[in-house]
Amino acid sequence: MTCALPSATAVPRMSRRGWRHIGPCPAVLTFFIAIAGSAPLAQEAPPGWPAIAALFVERCVMCHSGEHAAVELHLDSYEGATTGSKNGPVLIPGDAASSELMRRVLGESQPRMPFLGYPLEADEIALLEYWIEAGLPEGETVSATKTLPAPALAEESNK
Ligand code: HEC
Repeated sequence: MTCALPSATAVPRMSRRGWRHIGPCPAVLTFFIAIAGSAPLAQEAPPGWPAIAALFVERCVMCHSGEHAAVELHLDSYEGATTGSKNGPVLIPGDAASSELMRRVLGESQPRMPFLGYPLEADEIALLEYWIEAGLPEGETVSATKTLPAPALAEESNK
């Protein structure tokens, strides 16, 4: 059976047939409302390394790459960034506040980064923070909600 979305005409018809017949409908409806509600969040899925690399290339790698990388911190590769500097890790997965890299771009730890350059923009800082809090995903993160509706729809059409 197909489950019609409630409308001015469908609702009275449904009530005549009894709620037992449309038992699954409110649940399915709630599901789609939940999906719709989480859509804006899905668009803001955590960034992966490619997005972070683009930022580092623009603002950091001139000093943090190659043989003479400052404090031996290499920000031109995922391995380099996650390995850290000669002083240790600069990125702590899931803990932006304690990550030295975050503290440097915020100026909580001196000298502020980018060294002698103008500070990062607020949205660039937010991007870094989101990436660290999300556990430093290496690939582009695919939103779970993009794949979720498919099985539900398949299940519906099988009825
Ligand atoms: C002009 C060169 C330059 C640029 C550009 C630069 N850095 Fe640095 N960075 C340095 C130098 C030099 C140090 C060492 C400073 C110190 O701690 O005395 C350093 C230190 C650091 C540290 C501290 C590492 C540790 O463990 O002590 C971090 C983290 C860092 N940089 C991140 C960045 C990030 C992220 C960017 C880009 C947003 C960046 N840097 C841009 C030169 C640079």
